[in-house]
Amino acid sequence: MKLAVIGTGYVGLVSGVCFAELGNDVICVDKLEDKIAKLQAGEVPIYEPGLKELIASNAAAGRLRFTTDLPSAVRAADIVILAVGTPSLPSGEANLSFIKQAAKEIGESLDGYKIIVTKSTVPVGTNEKVGAIVSEHTIHSFDIASVPEFLREGSAIADTLNPDRIVIGTDSGIARERLSALHRPLTDNILLTDIRSAEMIKYASNAFLATKISFINEIANICEKVGADVTRVAEGMGHDRRIGSSFLKAGIGYGGSCFPKDTEALIQIAGHVDYEFKLLKSVVEVNRDQRFGVIRKLEATLGELAGKTVAVWGLAFKPETDDVRDAPAFEIIQTLVDSGVRVRAYDPVAQDNFSRQLDHPRVDYCASAEEAAAGADALCLLTEWKEFREFPLARLETLLRRPVLIDGRNQFTEEELAGTSFVYYSVGRPN
Ligand code: UGA
Repeated sequence: MKLAVIGTGYVGLVSGVCFAELGNDVICVDKLEDKIAKLQAGEVPIYEPGLKELIASNAAAGRLRFTTDLPSAVRAADIVILAVGTPSLPSGEANLSFIKQAAKEIGESLDGYKIIVTKSTVPVGTNEKVGAIVSEHTIHSFDIASVPEFLREGSAIADTLNPDRIVIGTDSGIARERLSALHRPLTDNILLTDIRSAEMIKYASNAFLATKISFINEIANICEKVGADVTRVAEGMGHDRRIGSSFLKAGIGYGGSCFPKDTEALIQIAGHVDYEFKLLKSVVEVNRDQRFGVIRKLEATLGELAGKTVAVWGLAFKPETDDVRDAPAFEIIQTLVDSGVRVRAYDPVAQDNFSRQLDHPRVDYCASAEEAAAGADALCLLTEWKEFREFPLARLETLLRRPVLIDGRNQFTEEELAGTSFVYYSVGRPN
């Protein structure tokens, strides 16, 4: 099939590349000339394992092209996929201006029947608005569909090529048939719904996963007080198939471009129909507080923080990505420097993105994990990069001025720590 994908952010780029990999003819469109020029030259704007190679092979096979020319891309396509950003407005609501602008341009470009699919995460009712905007700008017929994306950063390609399910929300028989055919090589588990339910499935899924994380984080906080081990608790819960074991890792809370934005947006969506989503509001509040556990543990060991030096390992909101959007590390480091701490930070991939946004005279960005740790009064591990997990603890012990290790991601085991002199704090486990 011939596809135009509008927007080359995470979702657009990964979906476009994966559809090309399946043998479709894909044109990815973006307004940013610089970004398109780089993509045409084989440079990838984001760090995502395997993406560069897949772009190169599909571009070489002639199945994947990049352009700033939206009208031509739309005209050449049977299916137009909208994957532009929906960032948060200060109120928490999703900003739909990019979606609306793209819908207008698609409408102006139509030269015959097309299926217009929204993959961006959009509030319930947005697809209908997209349809209305397109209609205003065209005389041609078209159908709309909501096909939400469930990929995770860091495993985006595997998630897209092996999805748990595909949700297709549309009221058009032709769209249902063609979109099912497009996605069937990925899975047989295709759920056909109305448009509004498909839009809601995306928010409800992300909100539920965020709820699981805040739930286990609160259990972890209680475990610390009653002397239980949250990893064993999560394991014991996870064996119940009704609960499931995923998204029960306690830590410093969720970050990223999706959970923080989508939970806030769903609270707003509910508010607009006079419903207070009390549970989700608590999930957000618990998440905001969870990151400060690291600071409380530092204070418990070091006492007064002013004048101390603290090493921070990990700045990305999770491993295998250079994305720092809503990363808990921002607030943790900001709180430390506000308390008079000197911070020595290191991340193997996300450091440049992070340092561009947090530039402070008391934050030194280091060239290696070793350099960050050298001479520090304590080390905080905030992202579970493999490199940190595999760092020899005996070596770390000699590097730090004081062997204080605050493990925000429960990376080290009792056995690994046995025989060392570490003052060790993790999340929800006995020290
Ligand atoms: C999330 C969803 O998992 C995807 O299904 C969805 O498509 C995507 O949002 C989106 O809406 O685009 P992503 O934000 O890339 O994907 O990353 P996750 O792997 O879900 O992690 C989110 C955050 O939760 C990270 O900060 C991670 O450290 C944290 N987390 C995750 C935990 O603290 N504990 C866990 O058990 C799992």
